[in-house]
Amino acid sequence: MAKMKKADYLKEAVKHIEISKHNVVPLVDAMGDMAFSARDLARAAKIYNLMLADKNCSVILTLAGSLFSAGLKKVVVDLVRNNMVDAIVSTGAVIVDQDFFEGLGFKHYKGTPHGIDDNDLRALHIDRIYDTFIDEDELRVCDDTTRRIADSLDPRPYSSREFIEEMGKYLSKHGKTKDSVVLAAYEKRVPVFVPAFSDCSAGFGMIAHQWNNPEKHMSLDSAKDFLELTKLKVEARDTGLLMIGGGVPKNFTQDTVVAADILGEEAPMHKYAVQVTVADVRDGALSSSTLKEACSWGKVETTSEQMVFSEATLALPLIAGYAYHKGVWKTRKARRYSDFLNKELAKIG
Ligand SMILES: NC(=O)c1ccc[n+]([C@@H]2O[C@H](COP(=O)([O-])OP(=O)(O)OC[C@H]3O[C@@H](n4cnc5c(N)ncnc54)[C@H](O)[C@@H]3O)[C@@H](O)[C@H]2O)c1
Repeated sequence: MAKMKKADYLKEAVKHIEISKHNVVPLVDAMGDMAFSARDLARAAKIYNLMLADKNCSVILTLAGSLFSAGLKKVVVDLVRNNMVDAIVSTGAVIVDQDFFEGLGFKHYKGTPHGIDDNDLRALHIDRIYDTFIDEDELRVCDDTTRRIADSLDPRPYSSREFIEEMGKYLSKHGKTKDSVVLAAYEKRVPVFVPAFSDCSAGFGMIAHQWNNPEKHMSLDSAKDFLELTKLKVEARDTGLLMIGGGVPKNFTQDTVVAADILGEEAPMHKYAVQVTVADVRDGALSSSTLKEACSWGKVETTSEQMVFSEATLALPLIAGYAYHKGVWKTRKARRYSDFLNKELAKIG
């Protein structure tokens, strides 16, 4: 058999699901009359809609897992563009390796975990995420673009939120698609935080920047991220969390209540919370810890919370699609927390 070439593997792009095209309200309502995960998911969708209906509630979306390479990017673009989220806390892979990467014009491709030799993929510079293929040479362009952005900045500490704004500015000039969360968030003034920013494509850009500029370079300040997110929480007061996956974004966001307390500021526990996860409660891990458990830590109220034990590509289109087609968001105001945070930074000088 002839040897496979790169183009033979990277043929068919993953398509992003569009919540506007599928009215899932009757389906989710019917699932609410079933049992088990179906009923949990319907309750979660209703709680997310309650967050949007509550005029005083700001919604924070947290993201972990390979969500955008799997076709969930447009869901989040639509949530941002329609004032259905007010801040995002994510892993770097989702925001940089997947969203910014596609913003530069690259794609994720349908692959398979079956009948392929990963050594062949390695030889062709193809990376695999379960059933998805990525051109690693294109990922290197993504790494290098973050390096060039870092090179262009004043040598000072930045929060990831500030750096991601710069990435949004870059896409507004050089981006190849409007369907980017980094771009939509930049335009809608929705702050995006990536607390573990160096653990992704941007990390390669950051080390190249610091290696080449040992004396004078920009740096990432994770405490600045935490302080900014805590300021946002104090300003918002009432918050609802829509958490997809667990990991650092989940804990970082939940912790803002405790952080505000430590700063002597008043901030109530998160009023609404939904988490979609595949993690198992028996792990005793953060990713699997229930929202009821988070109450014992003083982070989440127990009245309107719901865990959904499901893989995100199944659950998020239903939860987000339900709220989208309910239309409560149509009268919701944009919070523009990026502008608020920039004003706060300007006060410090
Ligand atoms: N995921 C990637 O492809 C990838 C690639 C490069 C770097 N990274 C980096 O690795 C670190 C960990 O990130 P991560 O995204 O891999 O998180 P992770 O794998 O640590 O996920 C955290 C938890 O979220 C849940 N989860 C993950 N995917 C899910 C899904 N599809 N549906 C439901 N629940 C899900 C699981 O419970 C998991 O334990 C980050 O710093 C990230 O930037 C990740």
